[in-house]
Amino acid sequence: YRGLKVALLGAGSVGSQVARLLLEHADELASRAGASLELIGIAVRDVDAPRDVDLPKELYTTDAEQLILSADIVIELIGGIEPARSHILQAINAGADIVTANKALLATHGPELFDAAEQVGAQLYYEAAVAAAIPIIRPLRESLAGDRINRVLGIVNGSTNYMLDRMDRFGDTMEDAAAVASELGYLEADPTLDVEGYDAAQKATILASLAFHTTVPVEAVHREGITGITKAQVDLARSEGYVIKLLAIAERIVDETTGEEGLSARVYPALIGREHPLAAVHGGNNAVFVEAENAGSLMFYGAGAGGKETASAVLGDLVSAARRHVAGGPGVGESTHADLPVLEIGRVTTRY
Ligand code: NDP
Ligand code: HSE
Repeated sequence: YRGLKVALLGAGSVGSQVARLLLEHADELASRAGASLELIGIAVRDVDAPRDVDLPKELYTTDAEQLILSADIVIELIGGIEPARSHILQAINAGADIVTANKALLATHGPELFDAAEQVGAQLYYEAAVAAAIPIIRPLRESLAGDRINRVLGIVNGSTNYMLDRMDRFGDTMEDAAAVASELGYLEADPTLDVEGYDAAQKATILASLAFHTTVPVEAVHREGITGITKAQVDLARSEGYVIKLLAIAERIVDETTGEEGLSARVYPALIGREHPLAAVHGGNNAVFVEAENAGSLMFYGAGAGGKETASAVLGDLVSAARRHVAGGPGVGESTHADLPVLEIGRVTTRY
């Protein structure tokens, strides 16, 4: 295999899992990518900080800029605007491809980063930035590129869904549920982003921009969070046959007075009937409905937060980035894992 050097920025909930999986599954990832993926270092703030995942100490550095200089692919999992933005721009200008899960940065500085990448022929991958483990970026950008999308709607924040769900089904207080969401690694470094709806609005910006092939500024997204939701409201909703969910909605609309066509994007806690599929989205899961003119209604469901769940999407992007680097490498769907033979066991009933 050709060797590709991978620099990781950040070793928190997501970064530590990405590093672990990169090291543990090195052979399998190499066979998928057509290149060995060498983790050359992990940039953090404090190299001596205690960490959940035990990784070789010598990988840690506080010198992200130096690390980026040697990398073919840079994975940014620091979060926030700075220094993430500067590091990504530096990496792009140094000729690296980028993988990031940073929706806050993409929602506010996306055009700047995409332009910078385009100018030098670099690629920016961000499947993990919306709805963590759920593949939704590629379907919108690629699979549905030939259709006309009318609406994208769903639950795109895992931690607030976890909190509302605990309040609804187990009678937890919002504070107790938030503490567990934090332990599970679901919350942003600044939890205000989750509970005040900023994170969902950033994701709505990214989804709407992709779905409607335009740039939707995050300031244009109407935003309400869940901090005003009381236990009494949750209980009342339940007694009336509803559940409260934080929704993100982006859709084509026509202004009733002017007849002008445009978009609406909004995030707010909504009452959902108990029989609606969104009512069954529990814990840290997310669900996104896409309504397209020809494809009809599509539903994407799965883990919307969590370290290893998000790492899955990050590693998928890493394999895509690596394939791009390797001329003549295995195409999508062509990679093989020779150690996995087909076992002839006949007809077996599997229970789901
Ligand atoms: P954490 O806060 O858990 O981890 C952040 C990491 O970045 C830490 O290792 C920290 O170092 C490092 N870091 C912070 N500032 C700097 C700096 N100035 N220089 C170098 N390193 C720095 O974040 P998460 O892992 O939860 O999230 C990472 C990204 O993934 C964010 O963009 C987030 O929005 C996104 N995301 C998160 C999901 C989740 O479920 N957690 C799901 C989907 C996306 P140190 O450890 O030394 O403090
Ligand atoms: N804090 C985010 C959430 C992480 O709760 O959904 C996943 O983007």
